[in-house]
Amino acid sequence: MTETGTGVTGPTDSALFALPKAELHLHIEGTLEPELVFELAGRNGVGLPYASVDELKTHYDFSDLQSFLNLYYATMDVLRTESDFAELTRRYLATAATQGVRHVELFFDPQAHTARGIRLETVVDGIGAALDEAERDLGITSGIILSFLRDQPVDAAEIILSVGLSRIDRIIGVGLDSAEVGHPPSLFAHVFARARDAGLHVVAHAGEEGPPEYIREAIDLLGVERIDHGIRAIEDPELVARLAGERIALTMCPLSNVRLRTIGDLAEHPLRRLDAAGVRVTVNSDDPAYFGGYVGDNFVAVRDALGVTAQEAERYARTSIEASFAPDARKRELLSEVDGWLG
Ligand code: HPA
Ligand code: ZN
Repeated sequence: MTETGTGVTGPTDSALFALPKAELHLHIEGTLEPELVFELAGRNGVGLPYASVDELKTHYDFSDLQSFLNLYYATMDVLRTESDFAELTRRYLATAATQGVRHVELFFDPQAHTARGIRLETVVDGIGAALDEAERDLGITSGIILSFLRDQPVDAAEIILSVGLSRIDRIIGVGLDSAEVGHPPSLFAHVFARARDAGLHVVAHAGEEGPPEYIREAIDLLGVERIDHGIRAIEDPELVARLAGERIALTMCPLSNVRLRTIGDLAEHPLRRLDAAGVRVTVNSDDPAYFGGYVGDNFVAVRDALGVTAQEAERYARTSIEASFAPDARKRELLSEVDGWLG
């Protein structure tokens, strides 16, 4: 136990890192660390507008979601080959393993790659190869979620879904990300219906910068099983009650919300209040290379800023496993790993 910023004793950093957990909100392109940007640029002969890793890092000061996305889409240009995507994923998994991740469901943004002439198959095969290795070598299980870019035309999402369906053996679900405001879930009702009909799981980013109404649309019009972020639900007590009643889990990313200035200070984060209201909440890292921490670091940050207790941290970890799309037998196995955590 350790003294937290709120004067309460809480779990130690190492206990929070050791807590077995599922990571359910992770953009694999958002794990591209600045050092790897330079390595891949060198390997692939890609020119960078930065002289050094340190100079690149000076651009990691974001004013909102769009300012981050501009850099995120620009730096991923260094990812060119299947082995680049495998290397990216391998490095994420090595770090994730040290922070207690036992199962991960990661997003990728195929349209951000096909727009650069890189085939969806190249991306999926690279990511998939590293995930297979991690299952064998680290015991981490996983799934890949194809995420549509909501700030691109709906027709483009329809096309990329068709391509993705040719690799349905490798994809467990679809999601919706990128610039939220002005791009409501309702636009994507048809493409999500097609994904559901194909047997895929469905999730969507909603209520990150967008209004609570977008969360309602994601549930009612897209049929989502989880909401990614959902922080703005806290503005709408009726919606909070509905999320709790319908047991719809939120995949929250506290450090991301601070870095993108969705909230002013971590102490204002609604994670703990939503939990207290009966909403199923989970802690995740979103784009850890850009937001100052992986999933274990996010647990440490909410302990310090919100006074999250060991019992609460354990509940978030259990929820991450229960709300995952892992087979029931795997969920039982992981829940039993959590059983021993508090000692
Ligand atoms: N929000 C929306 N879209 C994204 C994000 C995010 O934090 N990261 C990568 N794509
Ligand atoms: Zn996200």
